[in-house]
Amino acid sequence: MTDTTGWDVPPQQSWVRGERPDAPVAFDEADGVWTIYGHEEAATALADPKTFSSAHVNDLFPIDVPADANAGNLLDLDPPDHRKLRNLVTKGFSAKVVADLEPRIARLTHELLDAVEGDRLELVETLAHPLPVIVIAELLGLPPADRELFRGWVDVLFSQQNNPFSTTVDRADLEAELAARAEAVGPLFEYLREHAVARRRDPREDLISALVQAEVDGQRLTDAELVNFCGVLLIAGHITTTMLLGNTVLCLDAHPDQRERLRADRAGIPTAIEESLRFLTPFSTMARATTRAVALGGVEIPADRMVQVSLGAANRDPRRFADPDVFDARRDPNPHLGFGRGIHFCVGAPLARLEGRVAVDILLDRFPALRVDPEHRPTFMPSPMMTGVRTLNLRTA
Ligand code: HEM
Repeated sequence: MTDTTGWDVPPQQSWVRGERPDAPVAFDEADGVWTIYGHEEAATALADPKTFSSAHVNDLFPIDVPADANAGNLLDLDPPDHRKLRNLVTKGFSAKVVADLEPRIARLTHELLDAVEGDRLELVETLAHPLPVIVIAELLGLPPADRELFRGWVDVLFSQQNNPFSTTVDRADLEAELAARAEAVGPLFEYLREHAVARRRDPREDLISALVQAEVDGQRLTDAELVNFCGVLLIAGHITTTMLLGNTVLCLDAHPDQRERLRADRAGIPTAIEESLRFLTPFSTMARATTRAVALGGVEIPADRMVQVSLGAANRDPRRFADPDVFDARRDPNPHLGFGRGIHFCVGAPLARLEGRVAVDILLDRFPALRVDPEHRPTFMPSPMMTGVRTLNLRTA
């Protein structure tokens, strides 16, 4: 059993410490939100967007959000709008596009690790953050040198400690956090708008140019749709992968025997990555809203209620996984929900898996003595919706 008791994950994620919610679906008194903890129940809800809507979440959000703020945001759409926009992006992440990126990802990983001096490194700063940011920025057609800008904006976005979907959270606190986020996102979206305008004039071989020229039902995307669409790709395209890389290194550090087995047989890395996604699920809570009263997991959730789908808890459901609190890099099959399920299943899953495999392989090659620095505890993302390391100090000797 992995000793996770010392890991400072946000308090809502008690299952990371092996503490299990006792019902698959329950009304969470602390947050005033219905929460789905069970694997089967989570999969059922994610497969039924008619009842568990993503778009309806904004109607129930405790604070008004301008309509433009979510236009074009795939995550917030229901069918049929969702399918139309999603079709635009799937081409950009086809198996071939992603597979062709492997040499570039390997080169980048080496370049980033070449900069390490001495026998210490902080993994997030050195590799886990820049690698996925550079890859997604290059795909979109944004200058990778701007990555420090993205980082500043995204840090504020995910520094929130209040659950935005909670109905019991102090309204003034939430408003203050959302105002800080809007302030952070404003310049990010302005930046994306400038690039989109430039590509309208001068298209190139990149995803922004493809989106600028794409049509849905004979119509081009509006500026707001385009900018939000690119914003989601840029944000979703890196922060989660950053956590995946850090979490995998942390889990392998806790299990030197499993790490050494992988070092000897790299073919096992993809299976280890899947287990990392199960054991420490980066994007651990999804939001949905009921459009009708629905029976699930032995309870009835009324209509028009906010529902949290806890992928992190579902991935530790003992009804689905034997020894769910054990990190087993050889677990197979591993039907985890780390990339979601159904129509919103992660567009970037093949890319995230590839980045994870290449980076872990190269880390094992280059640093035979890599271990967590005993003088620095890992820190975790403070957001209650995320499970992942924020900083991970390592020693190479
Ligand atoms: C380890 C890394 C990643 C994890 C754990 C992850 C997780 C997820 C999850 C759980 C969803 C489902 C959301 C929902 O049901 O509401 C999702 C959707 C999405 N992800 Fe990822 N993701 C990762 C990497 C990426 C990357 C690299 C990209 C883009 C390059 C990306 C782009 C997206 C997009 C655009 C969606 C929305 C899809 C839709 O609504 O149809 N993700 N991701």
